[in-house]
Amino acid sequence: MTAPLVIAIDGPAASGKGTLARRLAEHFDLPHLDTGLTYRAVAKALLDSGQPLDREALAVDAARRLDLVGLDRDQLSHHEIGEAASKVAVMSAVRRTLVDQQRLFAKNGRGAVLDGRDIGTVVCPDAMAKLFITAAPNERARRRWNEMQLKGEVIDFEAVLADIKRRDKRDMGRADSPLKPARDAHLLDTSQMDIEAAFRAAISLVEKAQSAAHPES
Ligand code: C5P
Repeated sequence: MTAPLVIAIDGPAASGKGTLARRLAEHFDLPHLDTGLTYRAVAKALLDSGQPLDREALAVDAARRLDLVGLDRDQLSHHEIGEAASKVAVMSAVRRTLVDQQRLFAKNGRGAVLDGRDIGTVVCPDAMAKLFITAAPNERARRRWNEMQLKGEVIDFEAVLADIKRRDKRDMGRADSPLKPARDAHLLDTSQMDIEAAFRAAISLVEKAQSAAHPES
């Protein structure tokens, strides 16, 4: 019997992991969950109702009410929501509530693609393929700034770079599930790659992981 193809993709903000995850899901015909959206949706629910971001019980309540089906990056993409999400994401009880839902998504059927910060280390430690996507902070800030320009968001480059560095620090420095590559993750540095080259490299890493899992086929 073929084992489900679970693909875990982790990496810092604006590393290109989201685009790669979407394209891998399409290529391998698998459902995709951008787990960053789950933290963003909790943060947005708190912001919209004027609640503080650091009250664990309120945040857990919002996390329990989350519906994975309706998550939409366009509505959650604003960088203030990303910043708020990384504050909500330091609380262990919030993480446990969201991780339970993310695991259910991953267990469903033939496999799935999940991207985030702790997929290979915590959410799906048994994933068949684990990729850790990185790029230099300046390059990530440049990509994020370009995206924002296209959407008409006016912000200066230095502010975007500072935001990326602050988020890296918070995500890598937190006690619960810090951002780091799983021991068995394949590192992919996209600083010098366009998205097509990164996509080809990612497919080849996933195919190698599949052959290693099913050496006979
Ligand atoms: O990936 P994205 O920028 O949408 O994630 C927003 C924030 O949510 C991250 O900065 C991180 O703090 C948090 N997050 C997390 N674990 C995940 C996904 C996102 O802690 N698996």
